[in-house]
Amino acid sequence: MPPMLVLGIESSCDETGVALYSTAAGGALLAHALHTQVVMHQAYGGVVPELASRDHIRRAVPLLRKVLADSGCSLREIDAVAYTQGPGLAGALLVGAAFAEALATSLGVPTVPVHHLEGHLLSPLLSSRPPCFPFIALLVSGGHSQLMHVTGVGHYELLGETLDDAAGEAFDKTAKLLGLAYPGGPALAALAEHGRPDRVKLPRPMLHSGDLDFSFSGLKTAVLTRVRESIASGGPLDEQQRADIARGFQDAIVEVLVKKSLRAVKDSGLKQLVVAGGVGANRELRRQLDARAAKSKIAVFYPELEFCTDNGAMIALAGALRLQCGAATKPAGAFAVRPRWPLADLLA
Ligand code: KG4
Ligand code: ZN
Repeated sequence: MPPMLVLGIESSCDETGVALYSTAAGGALLAHALHTQVVMHQAYGGVVPELASRDHIRRAVPLLRKVLADSGCSLREIDAVAYTQGPGLAGALLVGAAFAEALATSLGVPTVPVHHLEGHLLSPLLSSRPPCFPFIALLVSGGHSQLMHVTGVGHYELLGETLDDAAGEAFDKTAKLLGLAYPGGPALAALAEHGRPDRVKLPRPMLHSGDLDFSFSGLKTAVLTRVRESIASGGPLDEQQRADIARGFQDAIVEVLVKKSLRAVKDSGLKQLVVAGGVGANRELRRQLDARAAKSKIAVFYPELEFCTDNGAMIALAGALRLQCGAATKPAGAFAVRPRWPLADLLA
């Protein structure tokens, strides 16, 4: 197959990402650009879908211009346009899909609708030290927490998943309880750095459930109970108390993620673990995973920090790898987005 230049577009939530990936010479990311809407949504304490959609419209063309300028490529050189078809916010997805399909139509090239989670799953392949197939993947984002057995592009077996809140969702909701601004995950992690170990001991949900599923909503409730108890016995929480709670929460969630991930790797007989999705940026999770995996001679791979959270590079990559595997492209034009799209449907 001749080398291809693939444009990737991500717009599933509150980040607009555009990237150019070339499959020439083993594959390389030529340029990527991102606009995050965090500041815009902060005033509302969370993502406002309608505002997100409108902002994607504003950002798409300038970001495309930037990746073309940075890479030195021209529009005419693009061979295919990959974009996030789902899951995500319907309106936000529609902006990216309409933009991608219109652009591809005007260029006369095919489109590759991509599953957002597949993008996350493959994102560690963009790093300077990529894993090789097969591996176990821990996918922990704002919407998903899953353990997958990955044997190749498009070959994913679900081993376990959250029964309620996703790990990132639990971070965000707990952060809100502690009065932290959206997006809560990174803010809670930063607060936890000042917390003292074992001052606030929280449950480790489903640690001994005997399977690879997770449940995080109880943890958030346990934090709420702690906050209420502290307030009842002495007024508003001081900074150290909040940090201790944040630390207790993070330690609990990290312990469950680490133990279940390593169990999945051991059960599979493999020696590689890939961590992807926004929560994969969590430093304590990385510290604990690295330390415990090393003891079992398991190698852990992470995407570069900038590719942990949503971005266009992972969508361009997933599109390019799908094309290289001979996946069917679609003539540009008609399209549908899939706001709810289980990864399992992709495999069927
Ligand atoms: O992968 P992502 O950008 O979006 C989804 O596809 O959902 O992940 C975003 C999630 C948010 O819940 C955010 O709070 C969380 O990842 N997150 C973190 C950290 N950085 C982002 N959670 C914990 N620690 C972090 N450092
Ligand atoms: Zn994501």
